[in-house]
Amino acid sequence: MRILVLSGPNLHRLGKRQPEVYGHRTLEQIHERIRGDAVALGAAVECRQSNHEGELVEWIGAAQEQGFAGIVFNPGAYTHTSYALYDALLAANIPCVEVHLSNPEAREPFRRRSRTAPACVGKVAGFGEDSYLLGLRGLLQRLAGSR
Ligand code: DQA
Repeated sequence: MRILVLSGPNLHRLGKRQPEVYGHRTLEQIHERIRGDAVALGAAVECRQSNHEGELVEWIGAAQEQGFAGIVFNPGAYTHTSYALYDALLAANIPCVEVHLSNPEAREPFRRRSRTAPACVGKVAGFGEDSYLLGLRGLLQRLAGSR
């Protein structure tokens, strides 16, 4: 089973970006951990990051044709603004789990609304990099249940 793991804008700066909020580990270190967990769970992941909304829309739109069974997605700040990503997820024909390192609902008011979560089967937030791993587990369980 192949899973696409996507991260949106500014997440390439993890490790340097507000470590008190997002932790000290880089996105590449987090990707390494996700790859290891995926193998242990009998899956394979491809991890990508983009600062561009349109590129994320294209990756989501192509995911099913590229053989991915589901998506784990941290949309970064696009979470709170992007109807284009919401529409892309609705059109993806494969399930998506939204993940966040921080708990956006415990932060500034503008972060309390997710535009993208309503197009997802679930959401994990507030557990640092473990949010990605928990999201991956939940998605794989859901996919196993739907076979
Ligand atoms: C984030 C939360 C968003 O509000 C923020 O814009 C990010 C990171 C997180 O993982 O906690 O870029 O998605």
